[in-house]
Amino acid sequence: MNSDPEVMRYIGDGSIGPVDRASTVAIVTRARQAWAEQGFGMLSVITRDGGEYAGWVTLAVPRFLPQILPSVEIGWRFRRASWGRGYATEAAAPLLAFAFAEVGLDRVVSIRHPDNDRSGRVMEKLGLHFVEEAVVPGHGTRVVVNAVTREEYAAARG
Ligand SMILES: CC(C)(COP(=O)(O)OP(=O)(O)OC[C@H]1O[C@@H](n2cnc3c(N)ncnc32)[C@H](O)[C@@H]1OP(=O)(O)O)[C@@H](O)C(=O)NCCC(=O)NCCS
Repeated sequence: MNSDPEVMRYIGDGSIGPVDRASTVAIVTRARQAWAEQGFGMLSVITRDGGEYAGWVTLAVPRFLPQILPSVEIGWRFRRASWGRGYATEAAAPLLAFAFAEVGLDRVVSIRHPDNDRSGRVMEKLGLHFVEEAVVPGHGTRVVVNAVTREEYAAARG
C-alpha cells in the first residue's frame, strides 16, 4: 500500500512518494507504541470475506500542524484495490465512536490536502465539517481542517 504512488499522492507535501518496507515497519512499530502510550492509535482493516488486508484507520496527534494542538486526528489509508467500496467510512465510523466514548475526546479533527476530494467525502460522511484552511509549517503545504465536536456527534445521532 505504501509503495503505491497513487495512494501516497496527497500525503504530506505530495513529494513523499512511495514509502519503502523499512520505513513502513518503523511506522507500524511506532503505531503499536502509540496504543500503549496514549490509549489510541492505528487499526488494521481486514475484509470480512477472505480476510485480506485492506488498509488502516487511525487516531493520532497531528504534530505536523502545531497551530491546531492540542487535538486528535482521525485518518485512513487503503490499498487502491480496496477503494470505492465504503471501507474507509465503515472502518472509521466505529473508531470515531471509540474516540468519544472510550478515549473521552471533546473534538476530533481530520486534515487533508485540498485536492484530496475522496478523503474529504469520507470526512463529510462521518459528520466532520469544514473548519479552516491551514499551512503546514514543515513544508508550506496548504491543508483543509475538518472537525466534529462531541456535541455535534451526539446531536447527529439523536
Ligand atoms: C481516501 C480513501 C481512504 C477513501 O477510501 P474508500 O474506502 O474508497 O472510501 P469510501 O468508499 O468509504 O468513500 C469514498 C467516497 O468518496 C467518493 N469519491 C470517490 N472518488 C471521488 C472523487 N474523485 N471526488 C469526490 N468524491 C469521490 C466516493 O463516491 C465515496 O462517496 P459516496 O459513498 O458518497 O459515494 C482512499 O482513497 C485512500 O486510501 N486514499 C489514499 C490515502 C489518503 O489519501 N488518505 C487520506 C489522507 S487525508
